[in-house]
Amino acid sequence: MSEAALAVLDAVGERFAVGFEASRHPVGWTAVLQSGSPLPDATLEACRNAEAVFLGAVGHPDADGEPPERRPETGLLKLRRALGCYANLRPARLYTALREQSPVSGAREEGTDLLLVRELAGGLYYGEPRGWDREAGRAVNTLVYTRPEIERIARMAFELARVRRRHVVSIDKANVLDVSRLWRAVVSEVGRGYPDVRLDHMLVDRAAMELVVRPSAWDVWLTPNLFGDILSDEAGAVVGSLGLLGSASLGDGVGLYEPVHGSAPDIAGEDRANPVGAIVSVALLLRHSFGLGDAADAVEAAVEDALNEGLRTADLQPAGGGRTVGTQAFARAVAEAVRSTT
Ligand code: IPM
Ligand code: MG
Repeated sequence: MSEAALAVLDAVGERFAVGFEASRHPVGWTAVLQSGSPLPDATLEACRNAEAVFLGAVGHPDADGEPPERRPETGLLKLRRALGCYANLRPARLYTALREQSPVSGAREEGTDLLLVRELAGGLYYGEPRGWDREAGRAVNTLVYTRPEIERIARMAFELARVRRRHVVSIDKANVLDVSRLWRAVVSEVGRGYPDVRLDHMLVDRAAMELVVRPSAWDVWLTPNLFGDILSDEAGAVVGSLGLLGSASLGDGVGLYEPVHGSAPDIAGEDRANPVGAIVSVALLLRHSFGLGDAADAVEAAVEDALNEGLRTADLQPAGGGRTVGTQAFARAVAEAVRSTT
């Protein structure tokens, strides 16, 4: 699947006359099997020295019983943090061609174009202390956010909203959690610096409901780490398939680009996975790390063309008059469309 995305990058290189140099490095379960670590030093070093990092999905059922230091997810979390990627952008747009795919039926899903801005370097994912005391039958994770952590992600959300529909909804659980009360206060303060952007606060349980009830009503959703993880899967389902979502993780240094979905080991290597999440991640990479907005637009338009032509991967209902194709064939169609961008 990563290969499918790189094929699209090649097409961009040809069409827009830019040279990309890509090198491949192991991460996740492959890396554990090779070297015992889900994020080998050499991989981290290569990522630090790159201009942008594209990551295929991680996760493998064989790793389920493994201790944290041998879990694929641990490699990913370390990488996000090591690269200083604190802002995870997850756009969820309903493609016109895929309207029938949305489990939300009616007119309310039309025009759905939501940008989830998920805090990625803190919160419950990283808080200390953490651990499972097997003997005591007790486990702990810590939810902690500091003012600067909230300020920087809030600024990112407001900046992004300025070039969209100027509406930020900040999501929390302020009726229960102290951390959420801090979150709400800090986001409100930052919001005062953006009088041109409307700010609302919403409890996460209500947000889960609003996403299916009125998906098209929202512009930018700003979330802490865990809530963004959960709501982005829901957003994927609302627009037809989690396989469609890509993401950009931005911060102070190198950008990291990955599809939102997991590694789907049950279909790995079967040429059945939906490459759209990976391909639109490439578009985000072009836009955010290389400043190649035109190339990014071309990739996104090419994805839409392929869908409009009726091409579907197996996770999507076949289109009337269209056909179900494999991962590589879909990516080839997108690459072709990129090459013929006028
Ligand atoms: C995601 C994934 C990861 C996360 C996992 C694989 C650690 O679910 O990117 O949404 O929880 O952040
Ligand atoms: Mg997730």
